[in-house]
Amino acid sequence: MDKKGNSNVEQRLTHKFSEGKYSAKGADTCLMCHRKNTTVMAIFDGVHGDINNSKSPMAGLQCEACHGPIGEHNKGGKEPMITFGRDSQLPAPSQNTVCLGCHQNTEKTGWHSSLHNMEEIACADCHQVHAAKDPILDKQQVNQTCTSCHAREKADMSKRSSHPLKWDQMTCIDCHAPHGSSNESALKKATVNDTCYSCHAEKRGPFLWEHAPVTENCSTCHNPHGSVNEALVKQRVPQLCQQCHADDGHASRVVSQPSTNAFGAGMGCLNCHSQIHGSNHPAGSNFAR
Ligand code: HEC
Ligand code: HEC
Ligand code: HEC
Ligand code: HEC
Ligand code: HEC
Ligand code: HEC
Ligand code: HEC
Ligand code: HEC
Ligand code: HEC
Ligand code: HEC
Repeated sequence: MDKKGNSNVEQRLTHKFSEGKYSAKGADTCLMCHRKNTTVMAIFDGVHGDINNSKSPMAGLQCEACHGPIGEHNKGGKEPMITFGRDSQLPAPSQNTVCLGCHQNTEKTGWHSSLHNMEEIACADCHQVHAAKDPILDKQQVNQTCTSCHAREKADMSKRSSHPLKWDQMTCIDCHAPHGSSNESALKKATVNDTCYSCHAEKRGPFLWEHAPVTENCSTCHNPHGSVNEALVKQRVPQLCQQCHADDGHASRVVSQPSTNAFGAGMGCLNCHSQIHGSNHPAGSNFAR
């Protein structure tokens, strides 16, 4: 049984492959029945329909290079062909072997050990081949495709503060490798901080006075996808700080009215400790300058 509850499709396809009954006229055979489908015809506008590219399916087995041998399918179209994408009756790994047969580079980049592969995401969940240009290769379409599954990140990117993802000025793949990587969370760079430094170089330091959590991991305090708080911080100051620092109130040093506690008010800690990412001032040990 596969994930959609269809037990026999894979067996029948395997059987068809062993029979190897390819059509005599290739695409022309298929188009006798499928010509009216504009999605089908669009393949001829893209690389996979390019007869002049010797590596393209169209220069070889044509449609059947991806959909498998026709077998008895042309007797009314009831015998299944290999289908792709979310509605396919075939599990994703079986669909993907078709694509990986020609795209071994994808395999090398880390696809095999990626969470997308483990979670049985199909190449065709992100890619379209029956198209003049695969939409996901257009920067303007990336976020939309990713957030069609990633609801939490979709919600995050519309929050009060976020990276400019909502308007597609930035995309998920500025930080993540879509085919996986050997790094945590499929990041393109080795660590969270290296990811952040690639655009926020000024936060790299080195600083004379370093703030330990900053050099360790930016995402201790920031949610890179968005936050209801300013500056992508996961919690508001002072709660953010008080996860680690005792709420001692520096009591002896401050004159506070009952209603205006310097430490409890909105940006309290930052009013004094403004260089929260580190300081190069000789007297900056407490990040006040
Ligand atoms: C005699 C007519 C006929 C021929 C020839 C034919 N098909 Fe089909 N095909 C059908 C019918 C009918 C269906 C089922 C109805 C539908 O989904 O369009 C179908 C369904 C399909 C589907 C599944 C579509 C879906 O959305 O699930 C694929 C893929 C497909 N055909 C590919 C091919 C390929 C590739 C060839 C040539 C090797 C081919 N067909 C030849 C009639 C034909
Ligand atoms: C028979 C070989 C073959 C198969 C099977 C194949 N491709 Fe390709 N694909 C190519 C060739 C050739 C190119 C053109 C680029 C090149 O020359 O490397 C290409 C290009 C692409 C590109 C880049 C498109 C562009 O516009 O530049 C994507 C994305 C892609 N393929 C995805 C897929 C997916 C997804 C599948 C499986 C559904 C698949 N391919 C199956 C041969 C193949
Ligand atoms: C999570 C979405 C996603 C999945 C799943 C996915 N890709 Fe991609 N793929 C992308 C994106 C996004 C790009 C564009 C990368 C860029 O612009 O840097 C891309 C680019 C490509 C390209 C063209 C550039 C290149 O790297 O050569 C090919 C070919 C390709 N993918 C093949 C595949 C194959 C084969 C699979 C399945 C094993 C697959 N992809 C699975 C999102 C995906
Ligand atoms: C590179 C692999 C590849 C080749 C070559 C290819 N297809 Fe497809 N086909 C796909 C994928 C992947 C889909 C799912 C939709 C998409 O990604 O664009 C699909 C979808 C389809 C569908 C369903 C379309 C729908 O309305 O949802 C039919 C029918 C079909 N292909 C027939 C054909 C025919 C006929 C040919 C040859 C002219 C062909 N395919 C060549 C990979 C391929
Ligand atoms: C078809 C659904 C689907 C699509 C489309 C999709 N993803 Fe995923 N992704 C998943 C699932 C399922 C997981 C594993 C569970 C989870 O973490 O949500 C996952 C996990 C991830 C992870 C965590 C990886 C890890 O190793 O911890 C990242 C990062 C990710 N996806 C990024 C992307 C990006 C970027 C895109 C668009 C290029 C994308 N996804 C498109 C379904 C999808
Ligand atoms: C500015 C860089 C950046 C961008 C842009 C970005 N991410 Fe991430 N993402 C990260 C980092 C860093 C992590 C690891 C977070 C951590 O360690 O808490 C992560 C983690 C994830 C995870 C794993 C979450 C988990 O709980 O394990 C998913 C899924 C994900 N991102 C999806 C996306 C999607 C979808 C987009 C686009 C809408 C996106 N990301 C855009 C940096 C980014
Ligand atoms: C691809 C470039 C890029 C990467 C990588 C990147 N950022 Fe950003 N970041 C930006 C841009 C662009 C802005 C918006 C600047 C603006 O609006 O003036 C921004 C803004 C921010 C802000 C301020 C948001 C606000 O609402 O004030 C924070 C905090 C931030 N980034 C943290 C991070 C962290 C943490 C990482 C690593 C996980 C990271 N960034 C990775 C480009 C990037
Ligand atoms: C200890 C918590 C903490 C850590 C860890 C942290 N930040 Fe911040 N960050 C903040 C706070 C609080 C603000 C808001 C500062 C303000 O409003 O003046 C901020 C603001 C920012 C801003 C926007 C304002 C500015 O200073 O440019 C960026 C960008 C930023 N952080 C990037 C990073 C990067 C990159 C890292 C990792 C190297 C990082 N942060 C680690 C707490 C932290
Ligand atoms: C994840 C834990 C963590 C968070 C969150 C955090 N800090 Fe720190 N902070 C540390 C550690 C660890 C040190 C180093 C302590 C040491 O060296 O004794 C430090 C040092 C400091 C120092 C210098 C103290 C000294 O003894 O040198 C100040 C001031 C400071 N933090 C303020 C803040 C403020 C303000 C915030 C909130 C914006 C904050 N911290 C958030 C862990 C954290
Ligand atoms: C009115 C200014 C001011 C505010 C507001 C303030 N601090 Fe401080 N903080 C200081 C000064 C000045 C020192 C250095 C005290 C010393 O060296 O005796 C200090 C020292 C520290 C230290 C070093 C350890 C210590 O107690 O000496 C930490 C950690 C710290 N502050 C965290 C915080 C946090 C967290 C907040 C918000 C809840 C905060 N501060 C709010 C002025 C302030």
